Amino acid sequence: MYDTREAFCITDHLPRIGKPAMQNEVFLGLKDKPRQIDSKYFYDSRGSELFEEITRLEEYYPTRTEKTIIEGLWERMDPEHEPLHIVELGSGDSSKFRLLLSGIPPSQLPLIGYYPVDISKEAIAQATENLLNEFPPMRIHGLVLDFVHQLHLLPRPGNRLFCFFGSTIGNLDIDKAYGFMAKLGGIMEHGECLLLGLDMIKSKALLERAYNDSRGVTEKFNKNILMVANRLLEADFEPEAFDHLAFYNQEARRVEMHLRARKPMDIHCGFNGKRIRIQKHECIHTENSYKFSPGHIHELGNRGGLRLTELYSDPASWFSLACFEKTHRTPK
Ligand code: SAH
Ligand code: AVI
Repeated sequence: MYDTREAFCITDHLPRIGKPAMQNEVFLGLKDKPRQIDSKYFYDSRGSELFEEITRLEEYYPTRTEKTIIEGLWERMDPEHEPLHIVELGSGDSSKFRLLLSGIPPSQLPLIGYYPVDISKEAIAQATENLLNEFPPMRIHGLVLDFVHQLHLLPRPGNRLFCFFGSTIGNLDIDKAYGFMAKLGGIMEHGECLLLGLDMIKSKALLERAYNDSRGVTEKFNKNILMVANRLLEADFEPEAFDHLAFYNQEARRVEMHLRARKPMDIHCGFNGKRIRIQKHECIHTENSYKFSPGHIHELGNRGGLRLTELYSDPASWFSLACFEKTHRTPK
């Protein structure tokens, strides 16, 4: 048995980016036309909580569909029983990792190292505590970092399995997603694999229902980003003065979320003493959630220099888990 006090740590790399850079990014996005806030700013502790509530909604099919694919996946994949270091990007509550683990015989748990990677330190701390209660012999090293800018900081402890569940890659615009795959493929070693979760293109009605739930949880999640902006910019947005908009943009194959102003507003930003003037009905674009076809999945692999070895899906093909392998060495 491992001593869990020694088997667990969290490294926070976000200070390397720094608060001024984040303040600038959010402020400039809000001044831009169209106005925007990067969706990574949803996930303060309230935002992570609201996202978890979304995953339990009847209308939000992606989480439960992906979970049906992950159940029993370990036996199907049959990974080699050597020490394995599982790096989960955007790990959130780690519930999908927990499900993956449930297929592993307890005697093999001490051979697993887990590296949850997330921008939310609170989410990693909470998930780790839960995991250590459930699977005490496991070693866990949490990494707080931005996976778009700081992938190079991931450790190389030995043979790694990368997991990027939830179709979170769909929250990156196409160029960013391709850049992300190129960077990830560049740091993967020969023989290492990536399990990538992808929400597939489907009917506009099903998609719009998933982002406009009847209990208004997605609306709360969307508006909470303004509370994050208020803290970061020392600003005075009133989230309730905005309407939640979510619709499927078929041409761009993405669900878009926006916040639309109900009245003209003059927002004051204490951190730099500047103002942001917003007209009635002006929108702030808060999220894109791209949807994929099998062709798009192959292209993501190509961008990372990765070979698609398996494509696991549910019977209705609503969601896919792609398994990619790095089959050649990156030139130094
Ligand atoms: N994988 C979980 C959580 C998905 S929610 C699931 O499938 O249910 C998206 C997660 O990615 C959140 O926990 C959020 O904090 C994290 N995240 C979003 N943008 C990020 C970024 N740029 N860098 C690191 N983590 C990010
Ligand atoms: C985390 N991400 C993949 C979710 C999605 O579906 O794009 C975030 C979300 N936004 C609204 N609902 C859920």
